[in-house]
Amino acid sequence: MNNKPIIALDMSSKIEVIEFLEQFHEPLFVKVGMELFYQEGPSIIKIIKDMGHDIFLDLKLYDIPNTVKSAMKGLAKLGVTLVNVHAAGGSKMMEAAMEGLVEGTPEGQERPFLIAVTQLTSTTEEQMQQEQNIMTSLDASVINYAMLAKSSGMDGVVCSVLEAKEIEKACGKDFYKVTPGIRLAGGDAHDQKRVATPDYAREQGSTQIVVGRAITQAENPSTSYATVKQLWGGI
Ligand code: C5P
Repeated sequence: MNNKPIIALDMSSKIEVIEFLEQFHEPLFVKVGMELFYQEGPSIIKIIKDMGHDIFLDLKLYDIPNTVKSAMKGLAKLGVTLVNVHAAGGSKMMEAAMEGLVEGTPEGQERPFLIAVTQLTSTTEEQMQQEQNIMTSLDASVINYAMLAKSSGMDGVVCSVLEAKEIEKACGKDFYKVTPGIRLAGGDAHDQKRVATPDYAREQGSTQIVVGRAITQAENPSTSYATVKQLWGGI
């Protein structure tokens, strides 16, 4: 998978997305999440692809294996580069997701990479223990889910930069570690609790970084993107 910084298009309309992307004059790797996909539907994927960009479709599927398999079969036809599920759905669900992707990928096209969300970065250890009744540390739960994702055939996980090193130890260098929560030094953390710079992410073993507001809300998004790219340095 290419390792350009992934720009999170956390916008709700086609118009906003097109205006934003028109500021760039190179092929990008962008993330479309629930907000945009639920408003605009699959047509937004075609528009972005036709502009020449790669897409991470971040819908975090979580349902019974049969439903996830059928959903993935449909998503595989969209020609995106990366999709994801929740590891909490279990090994059977993750395996079914992969089967759906393999079955749904049109001949001659590459299967989208499939990664799993471990614990959401918005979940605290206290909340995990009290609400999910998981009586370990948050880190131990993240590693457990990463290992489960690996043994279920996933290509990697979404995780925080601060977890990337441990996941690398447990699951290897080639297992993708896609890390959001990226900020430039001195930038606003917004609602993210644990943020890291692109160069620190690289040091910690992130294989891809997801950058939203540090680029989308910058005064000059293309300059910010260039800075992120330079610090990340992995292309
Ligand atoms: O604006 P910011 O860089 O914080 O955006 C990060 C993006 O990554 C958002 O789209 C957010 O939903 C997503 N994300 C995250 N933490 C996760 C998974 C996804 O911040 N654990």
